[in-house]
Amino acid sequence: MVRPLLPLFCAATVLVAAVLAAPALGQDAPRLTGQTPPMADVPAPPVPKWVRDDVRRMRAYPEQPPVIPHSIEGYQLSVNTNRCLSCHRREFTEGSGAPMISITHYMNRDGQMLADVSPRRYPCTACHVPQADVAPLVPNTFRDMSELGARPAGSE
Ligand code: HEC
Ligand code: HEC
Repeated sequence: MVRPLLPLFCAATVLVAAVLAAPALGQDAPRLTGQTPPMADVPAPPVPKWVRDDVRRMRAYPEQPPVIPHSIEGYQLSVNTNRCLSCHRREFTEGSGAPMISITHYMNRDGQMLADVSPRRYPCTACHVPQADVAPLVPNTFRDMSELGARPAGSE
């Protein structure tokens, strides 16, 4: 009589374990799909305040595209006009005081240097974004690599 009960018992154990572990395994980000029900009429949230204090932000890691610390409201970025480059292109940085787009922006995908910004770096806002003063949509547990034991060179 014991034999047929054993698989049943095992199955029950697995089920209980799965139910208990579910909250821990369920690292599911909050849904960003919007309102429930989806077609409901809800007031739009207030337009956030952009961060435009002109303070260049520390990068979270060396190859991070730096975030934009100024307003880009109304800056045209199209095939014929790139407002960003009117300040950030090498030729204009002395007058604008803007940091020059770095050398990687002049490289094509084979690493060859070009005279002007590479086409793949032309749409600036594909990588660089302004910041707004809002709560994050999903929780973020990112930790700087220096908190994980990496020692900055020359710090001893
Ligand atoms: C009127 C000149 C001007 C224009 C136009 C402009 N910028 Fe800037 N940008 C600056 C200046 C000056 C700084 C240095 C920080 C400051 O004063 O805001 C800067 C800083 C930045 C930084 C931060 C760099 C770093 O190392 O932290 C980024 C990224 C940036 N701009 C991207 C853009 C993008 C993308 C656009 C177009 C949508 C743009 N900028 C348009 C002048 C300009
Ligand atoms: C494909 C992504 C990408 C695009 C498109 C792009 N950038 Fe960048 N940008 C980066 C990354 C990554 C860095 C940091 C590492 C580096 O310099 O390559 C950076 C660095 C910068 C810096 C800081 C340079 C320095 O030496 O401190 C400025 C300013 C900048 N970008 C402006 C621009 C502007 C203006 C445009 C549009 C003409 C642009 N970027 C397009 C990814 C991009």
